[in-house]
Amino acid sequence: VVIVEGLPKGIPLDEESLARHLARRQRGYGRGPRMQIERDRGTILAGVRYGRTLGSPLAVEIRNRDWDRWAGVMDVAAGTSPPAPPITRPRPGHADLPGMMKYRTGDMRDIIERSSARETAARVVAGAVAEELLRVVGVSLVNRVTGIGPVELEGEFPDEGDALRRIEESEFFIAEADREKELREEVDRAAAGGDTLGGTFQILARGLVPGLGSHVHWDRRLDGRVAQALMSIQGIKGVEIGIGFRGRQLGGLAFHDAIHLSRRGDGLGLARGSNRAGGVEGGMTNGEPLVARAFMKPIPTTRSPLPTVDLADGSTVGAHHERSDVCAVPAASVVGRAMTAVVLADAYLEKFGGDTVADLGEAWRNYRERLEREFHWSAGQGDG
Ligand SMILES: Cc1cc2nc3c(=O)[nH]c(=O)nc-3n(C[C@H](O)[C@H](O)[C@H](O)COP(=O)(O)O)c2cc1C
Repeated sequence: VVIVEGLPKGIPLDEESLARHLARRQRGYGRGPRMQIERDRGTILAGVRYGRTLGSPLAVEIRNRDWDRWAGVMDVAAGTSPPAPPITRPRPGHADLPGMMKYRTGDMRDIIERSSARETAARVVAGAVAEELLRVVGVSLVNRVTGIGPVELEGEFPDEGDALRRIEESEFFIAEADREKELREEVDRAAAGGDTLGGTFQILARGLVPGLGSHVHWDRRLDGRVAQALMSIQGIKGVEIGIGFRGRQLGGLAFHDAIHLSRRGDGLGLARGSNRAGGVEGGMTNGEPLVARAFMKPIPTTRSPLPTVDLADGSTVGAHHERSDVCAVPAASVVGRAMTAVVLADAYLEKFGGDTVADLGEAWRNYRERLEREFHWSAGQGDG
């Protein structure tokens, strides 16, 4: 069950849109057989009436269709099911060993069910709700995969239209249809060798007003909040905003995005010709699209087992294995988009407040009108 608290009244919401987001998380070449068993659907339990949020907490239940097979192993009551044998061969790269040490258990099962990224289905529901709220204020998000294993897909974030459609149709959430085969072969090779793969993905958010987040305290900086949200996803080991680490090769003159008068006629009279900052300066959005990128480490459950120690007897053994993904980078990109949407929706509510989406929309329009009044120059005026 996912509970989303603090939503204004009046956000359009139905189970179909939740199902679309959940289905995106289950897609992607390299997912395990579990994805076929568990066709996720969110059932709205509370917080919505006649297709709109009520302003009360929203509760959504996602049933685990695989539950029947696990009802005994994960029985709530003691003594009604025969006890399952304890699992004692911790997988390197997972929560298994530190979790057993911290929570004083000799049975890894106590740790592995909750540390599983199955939990990200709940995050995707929260992100779907956040995206509905963001739609009211003209914000849209895209996720795309930028590399799997050794294959690197470079290039700018593709523009609207065709590229976005290709990303949605792709098994890997990529716009470069001619690279799909190469990625599939890479995943197949890893699978054949009992191995797994990681990769990188990018999140883009368009339509953001300047001034979300703040420079005044460390924990209000929007780049920090986005980084924390992305890093909190299981397996994410690096996050970049804008061009990130690749910026090392540039001097300040080449790195920073010069400010110039806009000739786009889209309201604000100021613009940038580039977006190496990824849409955030001083912990605040600057009006350019937010661009974040994350690296996911290779999946730690490998069919060719990594060496570990059996905690039952101290012997050297292969790590525990149960059905698992070979590569979950496309799915992680969907979760990354959800987490970014949650952070942005929070930032909008913090800045504009409102008990209803109408209040939120009014405050947002007033702010934009003020910026357009105060920061508008027509080209030529003010030059020099
Ligand atoms: C969408 C998604 C699916 C994942 N699927 C698996 C999986 O099938 N098997 C596995 O061992 N790890 C899987 N992981 C990764 C582990 O959950 C993760 O590596 C583990 O929690 C340890 O990572 P951490 O050190 O960053 O917490 C998945 C992660 C995500 C985001």
